[in-house]
Amino acid sequence: MNKKYAIAPSILSADFSRLGEEVQAVELAGASRIHIDIMDGHFVPAINIGTPIVRACRKVTKLPLDVHLMVYHPEKQIAPFARAGASSITVHIEATKNMPAILKQIHKYNILAGITLKPSTPIEYIFNFLDQVDLILIMTVEPGGSGQKFLSEQLKKITGIKKELIRRKLSTPIHVDGGVEPSLLYELKAANVLVSGNFIFKHSNYKQAIASLTHPY
Ligand code: DX5
Ligand code: ZN
Repeated sequence: MNKKYAIAPSILSADFSRLGEEVQAVELAGASRIHIDIMDGHFVPAINIGTPIVRACRKVTKLPLDVHLMVYHPEKQIAPFARAGASSITVHIEATKNMPAILKQIHKYNILAGITLKPSTPIEYIFNFLDQVDLILIMTVEPGGSGQKFLSEQLKKITGIKKELIRRKLSTPIHVDGGVEPSLLYELKAANVLVSGNFIFKHSNYKQAIASLTHPY
């Protein structure tokens, strides 16, 4: 088999009344990582979850926990989320004026540092930081909620960043976040990790859902 994506279910679409079971179910169904969205009501309109949920997830799975911070003042959230059990922390370029300091702060905890950007932000804005990050998250919906439609005009960002990584001889993984479904797989070929909330958690069979996102061809 040629290309194989790693799948990171986003717990935003899980049943929070049974969160532990949901996380274990997607692990058993073949997930490679768990994606956890954090929203502050300012950077994005919604408020959702905080460190207690990350700590709870850490207890029930061995999979890496990818924390996606959609918050202003991310520098204040690195220590609490790292201590809660994050395996990676990804920060928005629009949320900080001092990305290098934040990436350093994340690395101090011996976890992976990620960078991401909103759909309206040009991909070149993150180029300066490519040699300091361990993962790149390309948003293919407006940050702030699950179940939105994939924004196909973002596809060129995925190929654009891949091209730049190759030019710099970097093999940094590209995560794609938002509106992912099986019909898009071929077009996402430059990506390594597919984040999926709605498609997986609304599916009646998580194993089938994850399998159908794994192989583009
Ligand atoms: C959007 C979040 C996504 C979201 C993805 O703000 O960053 O991680 O949960 O969910 P779906 O797959 O439903 O678009
Ligand atoms: Zn996310």
